[in-house]
Amino acid sequence: MTTDTLPASANAPVTSPLIPALGNTSIVGLQWGDEGKGKIIDLLSGDYDLAVRWNGGSNAGHKVEVGANKYRFHLIPIGILRPGVTSVICSGVVIDPIKTLEEIDGLSSQGVVIESNLKLSANAQVVLPYHKLQDQLAEAKAAGGKLGTTGRGIGPCYADKANRSTAIRLADILDDGRLTEKLMRIVPEKNAILKAVYGAEALDWKPIFEQYRACGELLRPYITDTTQLLHKAWNSGKRMLFEGANAVLLDLDHGTFPFVTSSNCGTGLSVGTVLPAKAVDTTLGVVKAYSTRVGSGPFPTELNNALGEKIRERGHEYGTTTGRPRRCGWLDTVALRYSIAISGATAVSIMLLDVLSTFDELKICTGYKITDGGGVTQAVEWFPADAVELATAEPIYETLAGWSEDITAATSFKALPKNAQSYILRIEHHIGVPVKIISIGPGRHQTLIR
Ligand code: GDP
Ligand code: IMO
Ligand code: MG
Repeated sequence: MTTDTLPASANAPVTSPLIPALGNTSIVGLQWGDEGKGKIIDLLSGDYDLAVRWNGGSNAGHKVEVGANKYRFHLIPIGILRPGVTSVICSGVVIDPIKTLEEIDGLSSQGVVIESNLKLSANAQVVLPYHKLQDQLAEAKAAGGKLGTTGRGIGPCYADKANRSTAIRLADILDDGRLTEKLMRIVPEKNAILKAVYGAEALDWKPIFEQYRACGELLRPYITDTTQLLHKAWNSGKRMLFEGANAVLLDLDHGTFPFVTSSNCGTGLSVGTVLPAKAVDTTLGVVKAYSTRVGSGPFPTELNNALGEKIRERGHEYGTTTGRPRRCGWLDTVALRYSIAISGATAVSIMLLDVLSTFDELKICTGYKITDGGGVTQAVEWFPADAVELATAEPIYETLAGWSEDITAATSFKALPKNAQSYILRIEHHIGVPVKIISIGPGRHQTLIR
C-alpha cells in the first residue's frame, strides 16, 4: 500500500498513482449531502480536462479552501478554479440565472477566470421567481409536514420540467419572442394557483421578462450545446470529472422519499449529462466520518444530545446554502451499503476524520431493528429507503475506542493514531469497498491517499 500527501499550492497537479487510474470519474455524496464533495472535486480537478455538473441547482453548497482562499459554490462547477479545465453545466441542472451571475461575480472578484472556461446548456431549465415563491410558501404553510427545503425553487422548477408546457429553458431567455409568449401565458397561471392555495400577491410578468432577458444577455456567451461539446470531448479522449451535487440518500426516486430533493442525484448522471453510462470509468463515493442531515426526514443514528452538539461544533456543521444547523449523528454503514450499491461507487473517500478526535468512544451503525405495521421487530441489513419504515429503525452499534490526538497534520495513514486507523478499517469492513482517500482538514494538503 502506498501513501502520499498532496501539494497545497493552487494549481499543482495531484501526484498520486491513484489518479490516472481513475479515468473519467464521477464524484457522488453517499449520505444526505455536505460530505465534503467540494474538497475532493477541487483536489482532483487539476488532472482533468472538463468538470461537469449534471444535477440539482443552487440548493447545493460547497465550501472549498485553497491555501488562504475560501470559495463558496452553488451552481458553477468547482473545476472553474483550475484555469485549464472547461466547466460545464448540463441540462440536468436547474439554473437560477440571477444566482449564477452572482456566483460568477463573486468568483471573478476573487480572481477566478470564468470567460471561455464556463459552458451552460441551452436546454437547462430556468428557475423563476414563482418557483422560489411557491417553494417558500409551501414550506411556510406545511404545518408539521415540512420537507425543510432550501427555498431555492428546486422542486417547483423540476415539476415544471415534468409538466413541459410551463417549462422555460435557458435558450428561451435568449429570445425575446419566446420569453414573452411563455411568461405572458405562464405567470397568470402561476398567480391563480398561488393566490388560491396560499393567498399570494400576483406577480407581474413584465418585470420578470426584463430581469430575465437582461440575465440572458449576460449569460449568452456561456450558453451552448453541451451535449455536442461533451460527446466531442469524450470521443477525443478528454478526461472528465463529473461533479455530483446533493447526495444519494436525497435522490428523488431512491432516497428517503419524500424527504429528498427533486433530482436523481444518485442515479441520474446519464440523463443529466446526455452521455451513456459507459462514459464513466470510476465512481468515487464521498462519505463524512459521521452523519449529518439538513432539513426534515428520518435519521436513525441522529444524536439529539451533547455528543451531537460536540460533532456540530467541532465540524462547523451549519449549512453552506441556508446557514441552518445540521443534524449530527454516528456513521451509518447500513445507509452507506445502500448508497454504494445504487450509485455503483467502487471506492470511497472518508472526510472530516479530524472532527472525531477527542471522543472517548465512537459508534458505527452496522444494522437496524425495524418494527413493521403489525408490531413485529426484526433485524435488517438492507436500508429501507421508505421514510415511514426508516423512522422505526433502531440502530445496532459497534463501539470503538476513540483517540485524543489532533490529526490535522498527519502525513500518512500509518501516522494516524492506531484507534483512528482501526476506525477506518472497520468502516471498510462494513461497507465492502476500499477507503482510498482520507481527509483530515479542509486544506488540499490535509489529505491522505491510500
Ligand atoms: P459538500 O456540499 O459535500 O461539498 O460539502 P460542504 O462544503 O457543504 O461541507 C463540507 C465542509 O467541510 C466544508 O466547509 C469543507 O471546507 C469542510 N471540510 C472538507 N473536508 C474536511 C476535513 O477533512 N476536515 C474538516 N475539518 N473540514 C473539512
Ligand atoms: P450539497 O451539494 C445538504 C436537502 C435540503 C432538504 C431537501 C430538499 O451541498 O451536498 P431542496 O431545496 O433540494 O428541495 O431541499 O434536500 N438538500 C441538501 N442537504 N446538502 C445539499 O447539497 C442539499 N441539497 C438539498 O436540506 O432537506
Ligand atoms: Mg454542501
